[in-house]
Amino acid sequence: MAVKFILDGEVIELADVDPTATVLDHLRYRMRRTGTKEGCAEGDCGACTVLVGSPDHSGGGGAVQWRAVNACIQFLPMLHGKALLTVESLTCASSPSPSGEGLGWGLSSEGSACGKAPPPAPPVKGRGESALNPLQSVMAENGASQCGFCTPGFVMSLYGRAIGASGADMPVADVLAGNLCRCTGYGPILAAGEAVDSLRRDDAALAAQLAAIAGESASGEWQGQRWFAPKSCGELAALLADYPDARLVAGATDVGLWVTKGLRSLGAVIFLGDVADLSGIEETDEALTIGAGVRYADAHPHFARLHPDLGELVRRIGGLQVRNAGTVGGNVANGSPIGDGPPALIALGAELTLRSASGRRTMPLKDYFLDYGKQDRQPGEFVESIRIPRPGPQAVIHIAKLSRRFDSDISAVCGAFNLTVEQGTITAARVAFGGMAATPRRAAGCEAALVGQPFSEATIEAAAEALKADYTPLDDVRGSSAYRLEAAANLLRRLWLREQGTVISVLEALDG
Ligand SMILES: Cc1cc2nc3c(=O)[nH]c(=O)nc-3n(C[C@H](O)[C@H](O)[C@H](O)COP(=O)(O)OP(=O)(O)OC[C@H]3O[C@@H](n4cnc5c(N)ncnc54)[C@H](O)[C@@H]3O)c2cc1C
Ligand code: FES
Ligand code: FES
Repeated sequence: MAVKFILDGEVIELADVDPTATVLDHLRYRMRRTGTKEGCAEGDCGACTVLVGSPDHSGGGGAVQWRAVNACIQFLPMLHGKALLTVESLTCASSPSPSGEGLGWGLSSEGSACGKAPPPAPPVKGRGESALNPLQSVMAENGASQCGFCTPGFVMSLYGRAIGASGADMPVADVLAGNLCRCTGYGPILAAGEAVDSLRRDDAALAAQLAAIAGESASGEWQGQRWFAPKSCGELAALLADYPDARLVAGATDVGLWVTKGLRSLGAVIFLGDVADLSGIEETDEALTIGAGVRYADAHPHFARLHPDLGELVRRIGGLQVRNAGTVGGNVANGSPIGDGPPALIALGAELTLRSASGRRTMPLKDYFLDYGKQDRQPGEFVESIRIPRPGPQAVIHIAKLSRRFDSDISAVCGAFNLTVEQGTITAARVAFGGMAATPRRAAGCEAALVGQPFSEATIEAAAEALKADYTPLDDVRGSSAYRLEAAANLLRRLWLREQGTVISVLEALDG
């Protein structure tokens, strides 16, 4: 079955697709759309940013929901049933519409920089007539581009923000945290982003086209390698029973690098992006239940409502392009010792539900991580959902990520504390860390030093000392073993200071 997607109003059908060919390589080497650049090929620099659209069921008001993603770590079958916008899509001059009408794709005539009536001029001086999209004009006129290599990526991220794509409600600096520029300096880029508030798109026709190409579950075979894109958990379970060794791919923000950097072959692949019932989110007074296929960008507000520290943690998982693709389930299932979700979710007492053709089983998330690279997942099972109990009024929670760079960086240490304090006594404690051991793990000694003790500075000091005996962390480029031990203990002290209302202004300033 062919992979079908819509590019600039045209339905593109690709037969015999290599399931691990990247969208970026296809654009550059097959379609010769070389405006989308390759910087790092690992999701870090944003030079390859494109927008992917799907029918909008979010109630957000648009006909199509757009997401900025890194084309370098998206595999071609992940485009099936979607719409794609590249930097070439933004001008009429470089890629005329198939209908020959000469309007930008989905840009209404009022909103098109290519049409007769341009949108209200952004507040920059010297804006002249051009075939550029308003954002491109603003970038040029603000001097926001020197060598220009990063510019298409910035333009696509900013265009996404301007048209209300996922994450559009965030400040410009947050939207651009996944885009790197080596030579211009970020001031003019941020100014350009601020200068264009919103652009109107009319995606009604595109939504109809998307509906027309939506069909059966996609699947294919390329040089003996099978791939599938099921649409329901039932279908997924049946496929996994037949192909227990198949590699599951959700957002590919981990797996993509195994291919582009590790040059690994994945064998049979099952793509999870179309499995509708993996994307559920249920919030009740008791708990938040997140489907494994929920992307971090969509989970963000729900996590933030559960606890602000959890929302802040999610804001710092990769850049927006990574959170627009990467899923909560992928972060957990991957089992990385430095994944940010697991320590926080373990401390909050999350439960994991695994599903297979023979049923479901549920376990505390902490029990899922057996050893480095080894999780308690049987052949044929997949992660279906994660349930996080809502913290009670007696909960004292602190979740913090320490990394060498604030944005878009991997944790050296990620610590999460969840204490229950009743009438001045700590009656329960869950403390978990990432970056301190071969798996995300609870700190048994620290917890023992807390429970049953008064919530006091002396208790915190004793528990901070005990914490140092809980782990034997590695030395690596992100931090030495000694640094990690000291920093972990300091995070517990920070919880105490925060609870005393001691505003640690330097730390808060560094964080913000
Ligand atoms: C530039 C960059 C920055 C990043 N920054 C961070 C960061 O700050 N913090 C952080 O924690 N992570 C970070 N990551 C890692 C990654 O984004 C996350 O781990 C993400 O949540 C993975 O989700 P995914 O859907 O992309 O997983 P995938 O790559 O699709 O899959 C990851 C693993 O999980 C398995 N899997 C996926 N879904 C399921 C399922 N439902 N059931 C069973 N197995 C499944 C896959 O088979 C694979 O083994 C970053 C990645 C990149 C590229
Ligand atoms: S090339 Fe750097 S993020 Fe894709
Ligand atoms: S303009 Fe050169 S990398 Fe940004």
